[in-house]
Amino acid sequence: MTLTPSFYPLCSSAELPEGALAVPFDVVYDGEACRAFAIRYEGQPQAYLNRCSHVPMELDWQPNQVFDDSGQWLICASHGAAYHPETGQCAGGPCRGGLIKITLSERQGVVFWHSADNLQPAAPPIPL
Ligand code: FES
Repeated sequence: MTLTPSFYPLCSSAELPEGALAVPFDVVYDGEACRAFAIRYEGQPQAYLNRCSHVPMELDWQPNQVFDDSGQWLICASHGAAYHPETGQCAGGPCRGGLIKITLSERQGVVFWHSADNLQPAAPPIPL
């Protein structure tokens, strides 16, 4: 069965400033509850599953701190894997491949994340 992609409000644009702490959210990926995070890099919002490709651990030891000190790389606190913030691709360290990207869109001051066949909300969305 193919589910129709939908999009869900994640946060306001103001809550996602350039290079700041990530905004966490919960999803179900391939039937498994997972954490995800959104960041802003070079003006664009980006989101990924919070799951390192080295060992499936969350990247942040300090809550929502996923950027390195330079603000140019997403860094896994466990063993130092570095990922490109725009693509999630491995840029160094022990990562294997990249982070799993989640599609975002932004309009009228709101950032939305998009579901997919294998990516669904953690809880049923609240009807408006
Ligand atoms: S778990 Fe992320 S670098 Fe090892």
